[in-house]
Amino acid sequence: MSTSKVKDAALAAKGHLQIEWASKHMPVLNQIKKRFTKEKPLKGLTLGACLHVTKETAVLVDAFLAGGARVALCGSNPLSTQDDVAAALAEKGINVYAWRGQSTEEYYWCVEKVIDHKPIVTLDDGADLVGTIHSKRTEALSKIKGGTEETTTGVLRLRAMEKSGTLKYAIVAVNDTYTKYLFDNRYGTGQSTIDGILRATNILLAGKNFVVCGYGWCARGIAMRAKGMGANVIVTEVNPLRALEAAMDGFTVMPIAEASTIGDILVTATGDVSVIRKEHMQKMKDGAIIANSGHFNVEINIKDLEELAVSKRTMRSNLDEYTLKGGKKLYLLAEGRLVNLAAAEGHPSEVMDMSFANQALCTEHLAKTEMSPKVYPVPREIDETVARLKLNAMKIRIDELTSEQKKYLTTWEMGTI
Ligand SMILES: NC(=O)c1ccc[n+]([C@@H]2O[C@H](COP(=O)([O-])OP(=O)(O)OC[C@H]3O[C@@H](n4cnc5c(N)ncnc54)[C@H](O)[C@@H]3O)[C@@H](O)[C@H]2O)c1
Repeated sequence: MSTSKVKDAALAAKGHLQIEWASKHMPVLNQIKKRFTKEKPLKGLTLGACLHVTKETAVLVDAFLAGGARVALCGSNPLSTQDDVAAALAEKGINVYAWRGQSTEEYYWCVEKVIDHKPIVTLDDGADLVGTIHSKRTEALSKIKGGTEETTTGVLRLRAMEKSGTLKYAIVAVNDTYTKYLFDNRYGTGQSTIDGILRATNILLAGKNFVVCGYGWCARGIAMRAKGMGANVIVTEVNPLRALEAAMDGFTVMPIAEASTIGDILVTATGDVSVIRKEHMQKMKDGAIIANSGHFNVEINIKDLEELAVSKRTMRSNLDEYTLKGGKKLYLLAEGRLVNLAAAEGHPSEVMDMSFANQALCTEHLAKTEMSPKVYPVPREIDETVARLKLNAMKIRIDELTSEQKKYLTTWEMGTI
C-alpha cells in the first residue's frame, strides 16, 4: 500500500498530462523501457530514489516499474518538486514523499521515509540519501547492493567518503558520463538557468553585465546562452585552465571582487561554498540580481545577505528584495537554491532523456554485478549505447571505420608518406 505524502492529491490529473508531455520527448528512455518491459531486469528490486521530482523523473520511474522494480521516491531539493507530478506518481501507487517548499526537517523526514522501504539500490542527486544512510540509518546498509549518483557535487561528496574509508557500498557516478555532463550540465543547465532567471524577473538580458561564477560544465552552458541573448558575459574562476578557456572563448575574465562591482546579474555554478559573500555584496550595484545554479544553496552566502539587510520583501514569486543600509537593493532569486529547478522546470526533457537513460542502464548494471564499496565510472558501453540510441532517435546517421582505418588507427608502422 502506498504511504505517500504530497502537497495536493487533486493535482494528479494535471501531473499525468505533464508526464505524458515529457515522455514524448524522451525517446531513449522509452526504448530502454520497451526492453525492460520484456526482460524485467529489475524484478523484485526495491529502488530508493532521492531525485528532483519532475515530470522527467516520473518517466524514469515508469521505466523502472516496467523493469519489475518497486520505487520509493523523495525530492533532492526542498524547492524543486513539481507538486502535480508528485500527486500523479502517488495516484499511480508509487511511494512518493515530496512537496515544494519544504523545511530542512521536512526534507530529511522524506529522505528517511524512503529508507524505511529498505532499498536495495539507491539513486541520488547530491548524495543526501547515501549520506543519511551512512550517518543516521546504518541498519539499512546490510540490504543495499549499490547506488547511482546524478550530479557533480554528489560525486565529490562520495569520493570524499571513499577516500576516508566511510563508503560502505558501490556507487556508479552517472554524472561523469559524456552523455550526462556534456548535455545535461552544459546544454540543460545553460538553457534552464536562463529560463529560471527570466521567469523570476522577466528582465531583458541584452546589454546587461552577466557574471558567471565558475567555468565548469554548467557554467560554460550558462555563459554561452547568456552571450546568445546579447548579455556582456564576465567569468570568474579559480582554475587557471578553465579561466584561460573562458578567455579564449571570448569572455572577460576577472576576480569576483571586481566582477561584483559591475554585474547586473550574477550567477554561481561552482559546487563551492560562499563564492558570493559579504565583501562582494557590499560592492554590488544597486539593483543587482543574484542567483545560483549549483547543487546546494551555499554558493551565495545568504546569512551574509540577511546580516547586511535592514529589510526584505518578496516582490514576485522566486524574487526577494533585500534593502541594505543606505538604501541599496539587491535581489536574490529562488532563495539561492538552484534557480533552474526552483524558478523554472529544470532541464528540458530531451536532455534528461540521456541522463536518465544512463540512470536506468546503470541501475540494471548494479542489479546484475557484484561490486565492492567504491565510486565507479559508468562502463563505456553504456555511454556509447545512450549516444547511439539518441542519434537513432534524432534520425542522425554516422560513418563507420573501414577495415583499413581500423588497422591504421591501431598500428604504429605507418608515418609520413
Ligand atoms: N542546476 C542544475 O540543474 C545542475 C545540473 C548539473 C550539475 N549541477 C551542479 O552545479 C555545480 C557545478 O557543476 P559542474 O558540473 O559545472 O562542475 P565542474 O566541476 O565542471 O565546474 C565547477 C567549476 O567551478 C570552479 N570553481 C570552484 N570554486 C570556485 C570559486 N570560488 N570561484 C569561481 N569558480 C570556482 C571550478 O574551478 C570549476 O571549474 C555542482 O554543484 C553540480 O552538482 C547543477
